[in-house]
Amino acid sequence: MTVKSVVKMGNKALFSPSAPLEDFEQYGKNYPGFMDLIQDMKDTMYAEGGIGIAAPQIAYNKRVIMYGFEEKNENSDIDIPFTILVNPELKPLSDEMIDGWEGCLSVPGLRGLVSRYAFVEYSGFDVEGKRISGKAEGFMARVLQHEYDHLDGILYPQRIKDFKNFGFEDAL
Ligand code: NI
Repeated sequence: MTVKSVVKMGNKALFSPSAPLEDFEQYGKNYPGFMDLIQDMKDTMYAEGGIGIAAPQIAYNKRVIMYGFEEKNENSDIDIPFTILVNPELKPLSDEMIDGWEGCLSVPGLRGLVSRYAFVEYSGFDVEGKRISGKAEGFMARVLQHEYDHLDGILYPQRIKDFKNFGFEDAL
């Protein structure tokens, strides 16, 4: 188990677009270094209490995200199954946008109100290199868009429209 330090806003790794894992479907778990990356991301996400994490947040600029929980947390109404997506693609299913509060392990202590697509379709590869796809709405759609943004070098504060809706958790 390796808990990595999470790269914080200001670090170039977070503003650089990440590269796909080339030919991932041929390698799956055997992609060099891949399973170590997955373990590090998972250990770091759980240790930091995050709902999702993207590889660039541990300074690895590759297109890998994970989110959700392996077990249902009784203290939370968030029920998102644990998912790993390699080389993900996202497509909005309608123009409908919803405002919601977000935080980020790379922007500790802060929250901001961000508008996201209400319904999205995602696709990508699982750890075996199998193509997977699905639809998401509500909070899960928000998490997907947030994590996907990390792969394009975008942090949620860049999407805040009104900076009155951005601030420290203990002040909001
Ligand atoms: Ni984030």
